[in-house]
Order: sequence, then C-alpha cells, then structure tokens
Amino acid sequence: MKIGLLTGGGDAPGLNGVLESTCRALLLRGHSVLGILDGFEGIFDGKTRPISLRDVQGIHCNAGTFLGTSNKTATKGRENEFLEKYAELGLDGMVVAGGDGTFAGLKAFEKSVPIIGVPKTIDNDLSGTEVTFGYDTACSVVAEAADALRATADAHRRLIVVETMGRTAGWIALGGGLASYADAILIPERPFSRPALIEFIRNRRAQGQRGMIVVAAEGAAAKDERAQVAFEVAGSPQKERYGGVAQTLARWIEKETGWESRHVVLGHLQRAEHPTTSDRFLTLKMGVEVAAMIEEGLWGHAVVYRQGNLCRAPLMDLMAPAKLVDPNHQWVQLAQKLGLFI
Ligand code: F6P
Repeated sequence: MKIGLLTGGGDAPGLNGVLESTCRALLLRGHSVLGILDGFEGIFDGKTRPISLRDVQGIHCNAGTFLGTSNKTATKGRENEFLEKYAELGLDGMVVAGGDGTFAGLKAFEKSVPIIGVPKTIDNDLSGTEVTFGYDTACSVVAEAADALRATADAHRRLIVVETMGRTAGWIALGGGLASYADAILIPERPFSRPALIEFIRNRRAQGQRGMIVVAAEGAAAKDERAQVAFEVAGSPQKERYGGVAQTLARWIEKETGWESRHVVLGHLQRAEHPTTSDRFLTLKMGVEVAAMIEEGLWGHAVVYRQGNLCRAPLMDLMAPAKLVDPNHQWVQLAQKLGLFI
C-alpha cells in the first residue's frame, strides 16, 4: 500500500517518534510512505516527499516534526478542493497525527478519506484518549523550571508566577505544578477566589516563607472573570492565543501583598524539549499499532490510550469537545492534601 503521513496543529515532543515508528513498521512490511508536508498545506499545495528508512532512523529523540506542521490552515469552505488534491496523491490511506483543530478539520472527510488518527497535543485535552504524547515532556519542562525558579525566588525573597500553556485546559499547569510542589496552582477549570489567594500568600509570608512559586495555566482566571487572550491568529481553527495572566497576576499580587513579584512565561519551550522516556515508549508502541491497523483495514479509527493500554477507537472519539480537568480530579485532591493552593 501507499500510505500518506501528515502532522497537523502545534508540534508536540514525540511526533517524530511516532513518525519513525510508523514508517519503520510500514516500510519493513513492504509498504511505501509519502510524507505530506506542513500539515493540511501539504495537501492543498501538493507538497509531499517519499520517505525512506534512512529519512527516519534516529529522529525519535528530536522535538518538532520532520514533516513540518501548521496550525493556521483550515479545511472549512475548501472541502471539494481538499478531496480533489487528496485524490491526486494516489494514496491507499492516510495517517494523521493531530490535535482537536486537526481532527475537527477532518470531520467532513471521515467517510470519504481512509484515515487512521493519532492523537497528539502537549495540552492533553483531546477527548477519546486518557493521555497524549508530548504531555509528559511538557510537564517535565514546567516542573524543572519551577524547581529552578524556586532557588532565585528564595534567594531574593520573591514570588514568581510561572505561566504554562494549555489553552482552556489546566492539565500542564496541574501536572507540572504538582510535580514541583508549586505553592499555588491556578487552572481554568477551577476559577480562583482573589481574596482566598491573597490570604494564602499573606499567611505563607507571615510564616516566614522566603520565596513562593505560583504556576498559572495561560487560560486560568479568577471567579467570574475571563481568561486573557493575548492575540488572534487569522486562519487558525482555534484563533485565540491565550497569554498575559502571569504578568497581570504578579503585578496584582505585589500590589496587594507587598511581596516583590516576577513572572516567567515558559511558552514554546514546553513544546521544544526532547521527549521523555514515557513519551518515547508511547509513540514507539503507537506507530507499531498504526501499521497493524492499516494492514487490518481499520480506517476511520484512531489509536488511543485507555486504562494503561493502547487500544483502537472510532476516529469520531477524537472529535468530541475538549477533555478538561475534573475540578475534583485526584491530582487536585493530592495538591490539597499537600497544602498547595488550588
Ligand atoms: O495547543 C497547543 C498549544 O501549544 C497551546 O498550549 C498554546 O496555547 C498554543 O498551542 C500556541 O499556539 P502557537 O504555536 O500558534 O503559538
């Protein structure tokens, strides 16, 4: 068979891993692989390249995606063009690694194009799967940064607000904040009380704590307030880009408490690290599973992670609304038992 490979949306550590593993498994079985470049742009503009074993050997440890990606190209309103261009590629089917934007963009082709889906996002907010690759790596970046920042916060008796990615979901802030025992973790799913946060900070200060770390998801907001949107990206399926909450909070906290405050935005560093071992294993297994699904003709399905195992699920499962943190998630309870503000 001739199989197309496409990566769409924001990159995530582990994407190259799933590409290496899928290509290895397919090429070893005698299939040929066509790389579709720069996400949906590759289909619309006919940007492709044949992939050999040599192209993919060893790429698993690199962040990014060697095929290129884009989170700016929507398929809406261009459905017929998409189908025509796809047909020109002469493929038996396509493996698509993407997030909610990518799969929403494929909804219209669910019946007409043979697709196998691979869920991907550092945000961990894709429905249908319990964990996505890239998430563990992003949490490690946050935890290491928060741990490192505590040293300078303690040295200067400062409070530092660390802003994480995640859009409307608090998974990265929660995972990374908990792993680094951040003093406070602010996530969109649990709008915080301004008075309670200030009281918590004042108490810690009164107890003699030198430095403090607050991890805030970019989509976090106080009760009855809206998340800060920094700017919009024209053409993007999800055009809002969240940002600014750490700076706003740092200035407000300093004013309210007198505790000298700074802010750090981790931004795209969360997508740029080498994948952790957990993410590597996940993607390595996923690629092998994808190749098996192709040979079984399981088009219209996705490889997902549920209850500790990889399994197959209808592609539609990835198209459901975002999977947010349950406000009483067990990690929230853990944070509370450890005396963190959440
Ligand atoms: O969805 C992944 C993500 O990294 C979000 O956490 C973040 O808000 C967004 O993408 C950033 O997008 P861009 O790469 O366009 O700045």
